[in-house]
Amino acid sequence: MAKLYRDNPLRKIAWEDFHTLDAAEKGPFFLREGRPYHALNAQQFTRPILDGLCNLATQVRRIAKTRGGVLFLQDLLCEKRAMLYFAQPSTRTFLSFYAACQLLGLNPAEVRDTTTSSEIKGESPEDSIRTFSSFFDIIIMRHPAGGFAERIAWLLSNTDRPVPVVNAGSGKDQHPTQALLDIYTLQRSFEKREGIERKKIAFVGDLARGRTVRSLAWLLTLYPGVKQYFVAPPSLQIGPDILAALDRAGMAYELSSDLQAVIPEADAIYMTRIQDEWDTAHESRDVDTNRFHFRVADLARLRPDAVIMHPLPRRREIEPGVDGDPRAVYWRQVRNGMWIRAALILTLFEREREIERYYQDLTS
Ligand code: CP
Repeated sequence: MAKLYRDNPLRKIAWEDFHTLDAAEKGPFFLREGRPYHALNAQQFTRPILDGLCNLATQVRRIAKTRGGVLFLQDLLCEKRAMLYFAQPSTRTFLSFYAACQLLGLNPAEVRDTTTSSEIKGESPEDSIRTFSSFFDIIIMRHPAGGFAERIAWLLSNTDRPVPVVNAGSGKDQHPTQALLDIYTLQRSFEKREGIERKKIAFVGDLARGRTVRSLAWLLTLYPGVKQYFVAPPSLQIGPDILAALDRAGMAYELSSDLQAVIPEADAIYMTRIQDEWDTAHESRDVDTNRFHFRVADLARLRPDAVIMHPLPRRREIEPGVDGDPRAVYWRQVRNGMWIRAALILTLFEREREIERYYQDLTS
C-alpha cells in the first residue's frame, strides 16, 4: 500500500484548486518522482522523457522482429489488465493501444459503447470508471468532455485503488499520445538530418478544434529552433492559448492562410481534417477548405527531404494519389502509434530496464 501512495501529488490538492490550474501547471501532478504515472496532457512531458520514450519504442520495435523477442515481450506484463474505455469513436488510437497491450501480454478489455454499460441506467461515468479500477490496472480512455480524463485521475488518486489513467483523446483540447507518435515519426524521419531541432513544421486545416495539433504544437516547444506555421482559414486558426505558450517558450511561428506559399518552406506538412463534429450550427460548412488540401500537383513544390503527415482519419485534404510518394508518412505514423504506446505503457509500469537489458543482449 505504501507504494500506491508514494509521492502522489493528486492526493495533495483539492479538485477546486487543481482544475483551475493551466495545462503547464497541471503537468507535474501527473508525474511521480519525476516519472510519468498518468499520461494526461502534453505539458507533463519533458525532453528527457520524450527521448526516453522514443528510444524505448525503437528497442521494442526491433525486439518484436524475432519470435524469441515476441515471446519475451508477451511475458512482460502478463499479470496486468487494461480497460480501454472509449466514449467517442476511434479506429487507430483504440486499435493501436489494443495491439500494444497484446504485444506486452497485458490483457485488454473494452467499453466502446456506453449504451451497453450501466451508464444507460443512469450510472455516472465517474462511477463506471471507478468500477473499472476494481478490476483493471490501467485505464486508457477517450471522452468528448475536455479535461475529463484529468478529473478521473484526480478521483481515482483519492481512492484506495489509484491506477494510471491515459488520455486517448479528450474533447477539443488534448490528444497527448497522438502527439507522442507524431514526435516519434518526426524523429525517425529526420534522424539523418540531425533530428527535429531547427525544422519547419506546418500545421494545416482545422487548427481551432484539432486536439492532435494542440498537443503536438506544445511538444515541439521542447525542440530548440523549431519554427511552426499555422495554415488555416481565419475562423479555424489555432487558439491563443497555444500561441501564448509558444511566446513563453520563445518559439518562432507564423500564422497563414496560404498553403501554397508554405509548401516549399516546410520540412513537415501536418494535414488535418475539418472537425465538423464540434460544429454547433454548421459553422464549418460555409468555410472554403479547398485551399487547404494537399494535391498530387503540390508534390513537385515540396522539398525532396520533407514529409507529409496526417493524424487520420482523412477526408479530401490529401489526394489519395499522394500516398505512394515516399514523403507521405501518414501510414507509418499509424504503425508508430503501436510502438510508442507500448513504450508508454512500459514506462507507466516502470518496466523499461527489462527492455533495455534484453536489447543490449540482442545487439551485443
Ligand atoms: N488519430 C486518431 O486519433 O485516430 P482515431 O480517431 O481513429 O483514433
